[in-house]
Formats: sequence, C-alpha cells, structure tokens
Amino acid sequence: MLYLLLKTIWLLIPAYTPNNFAVVFGGGIPIDLGKNFVDGKRILGDGKTIRGFIFGVLGGILCGTIQFNLENFLGIAFFSSLSFPDAFVLVSSLSFGSLSGDLLGSFIKRRIGIKRGQALPFFDQLTFLVVAFLFAYTFSPFFHHLFTIKVIVAAIIITPILHLLTNYIAFKLGLKDVPW
Ligand code: CTP
Ligand code: MG
Repeated sequence: MLYLLLKTIWLLIPAYTPNNFAVVFGGGIPIDLGKNFVDGKRILGDGKTIRGFIFGVLGGILCGTIQFNLENFLGIAFFSSLSFPDAFVLVSSLSFGSLSGDLLGSFIKRRIGIKRGQALPFFDQLTFLVVAFLFAYTFSPFFHHLFTIKVIVAAIIITPILHLLTNYIAFKLGLKDVPW
C-alpha cells in the first residue's frame, strides 16, 4: 500500500511539477492574447500565459530527466526501466498533457462563468491529471508498463488529497492566507 502510494507520487512528479514552474516563471502575454470567446467571456483568462506554459512544460521534463538519472543512485527502476528516449517521450507527454489539461480546465471554468483564480475543488485537481494520462497513453507505447490500473486509480484518489495537504502545509508555513 505504502509502496503503491510512493510509486504513484514518484511517477506523477513530471505531471505535478509543471504548474509550479508556471506559477514561478509565468506572466506576460496570455495564451488567448486577451481575446474573448463567442460567449463574450475570456477564452482562457490572464492566468494562462505563454511563458508559464513553455517554462512549465520544460520544468516537468527537467524533473523527469533528473528522476531518470536519480533512480540509479536510489537503486530503483521506474522511468529508468525504459530506455532514455522512451522515458523522455513518456515524461514529456505527462508534462505537456498536464499543462494542456490545465488550459482545458480554465477554458471550461470560463464557460461556466468562474473567474480567473477562483478555485473549483476536485475539477482543478483532476482535469490536468486526466489529460496528462490521455497524452501519455497516446504518445508513449510504454505508458502501461509503469501506469498500471492500480497506479491510475491511486493517482485519482491521492491527487486531491495531496493538494489539500500541501495547501494546508503552505498555510501553516505562512505562504498562503487560507488553508485551501
Ligand atoms: N500560470 C501561467 N501560465 C500557465 C499556467 C499558470 O502563467 N499556463 C501562472 C499564472 O500566474 C497563474 C498561476 O500560475 O495565475 C496559477 O496557475 P492556475 O491556478 O492554474 O491559474 P489561475 O490563476 O488560478 O487561473 P484559472 O482560474 O484559469 O485556473
Ligand atoms: Mg488556480
């Protein structure tokens, strides 16, 4: 059980970290170029920037690459059970899928009238994850070698919990004003 939990978190790092990189390095020109959709609301909003997307995807790939190399030192073989090019395709599609899912999430939120930055619990935590899985499944022939049904189910359960937990810790450390 603990093994499954830790394995799942490890495998999801290339999907979890892109948003953090986007927060740190984002800003500037929004992906929707400030334009509205046919409903008169912003297509995506100012929270989705070109710089955030690019550095986010690169950040996730960087983490996956570091993990691949770190696994030898830790004596484990998850990403490194694949060849480097195969692992690279897998982590790249997880990272790219994660931020593409993040865009889809914002697109849907704008359509239902939720403003930029306003949280939508569960939805915010699961759209990026589902799209990351879809991309990795589509682009990597080795997806199912690492992402078994057990890992996927565990991921869907633990991701919202991890999110709540990290926000609570950030709140306790004084990095956030509210614990959610
Ligand atoms: N960010 C970015 N570019 C992206 C994704 C995120 O620049 N493609 C940065 C933005 O500064 C954004 C922050 O990371 O405000 C937090 O990301 P997120 O919570 O996904 O965006 P929100 O501002 O909450 O907007 P939304 O309501 O559309 O999710
Ligand atoms: Mg948000």
